[in-house]
Amino acid sequence: MEEKKLIFSAIQPTGTFTLGNYIGAVRNWAPLQDKYDCIYCVADMHAITVKQEPAKLRQNILSSYALLMACGIDPERSILFIQSHVPTHAMLNWILCCNTQFGELSRMTQFKDKSQKHPDDINAGLFTYPSLMAADILAYNADFVPVGIDQKQHLELSRNIAQRFNQRYGDFFTLPEPYIIDVGAKVMSLQEPTKKMSKSDENPNACILILDDKDTIVRKFKRAVTDSEAEVCFRDGKDGINNLMTIYSAVTGKDFASIEAEFAGKGYGDFKTAVGEAVADHLEPVRTEYARLIADKAYLKKCYTEGAERAMKISSRTVAKVYHKVGFVDLK
Ligand code: TYM
Repeated sequence: MEEKKLIFSAIQPTGTFTLGNYIGAVRNWAPLQDKYDCIYCVADMHAITVKQEPAKLRQNILSSYALLMACGIDPERSILFIQSHVPTHAMLNWILCCNTQFGELSRMTQFKDKSQKHPDDINAGLFTYPSLMAADILAYNADFVPVGIDQKQHLELSRNIAQRFNQRYGDFFTLPEPYIIDVGAKVMSLQEPTKKMSKSDENPNACILILDDKDTIVRKFKRAVTDSEAEVCFRDGKDGINNLMTIYSAVTGKDFASIEAEFAGKGYGDFKTAVGEAVADHLEPVRTEYARLIADKAYLKKCYTEGAERAMKISSRTVAKVYHKVGFVDLK
């Protein structure tokens, strides 16, 4: 039998996931379990590259873990773990940092954006973050990495790091490929639809959180910025409407032509309400399942403990081989 390809992806626990995280990444992770071996992770070590309040971070890590399960990731079929529980990521990170160039890291747009946003805390972790991301992926020799478009540049760097290591030390790492969906890989802000939807947006109406209740979701969509025309159609320059159509298509499965037909002759008000209701109804089962899971801390603990053990088993084999390849003395 042909061996299954391996999927790896991760999300930062910096609060409830946004609709962007959900449509662009997380909701695609569950169906991949049918075809691939999947490893998913709550990237808490990445989260501390910006200041976090410790008690809040701890809560967010647990709630992100439960949310991933509520989004359909099955901790028995897949490996679902918390990054800081598996120290091999930090070990491999160091080796990969020594195979990453200053110039490469300086070109990362996310580093530039985040340093602008937090000028008082441009720490070394923020700078070397893509090497840790490469370590996450390469520790398992993943074939595919399902992410939104904003992570594409980091992923290309991961491939370059893997390639450089292979050239220096002999073929070892699989070169990971991005797995990016066609519609919804970049969900935009509801208030400034030329910017990506992000939980760090200061305007709460810009961003849908997947645990928002129905009224909040519908209200935020009603306030979404559109344009001065009154035509629901997908066209250059109609960023707000294009974004709403993308979201509507993602949660209903309808294509753009049928959405245009459905709202022909209707105003934006009707369209926005329909999008809001469709999103809220789509997310309802996630909210219900999340409430059930987050109340069962013992079960969550069992799942993340087992997930960490399974992840450790695979990644420690990789690290042992990497240590040997770079010339460290074997301990056993
Ligand atoms: P993070 O936590 O910022 O986002 C998690 C996933 O959500 C996607 N995403 C979006 N997709 C569409 N539209 C949006 N507005 C939007 N906002 C976010 C992201 O592309 C991502 O797929 N560095 C990563 C986490 C990470 C990782 C990894 C990912 C750590 N190690 C290894 C892949 C492989 C991050 O900060 O994602």
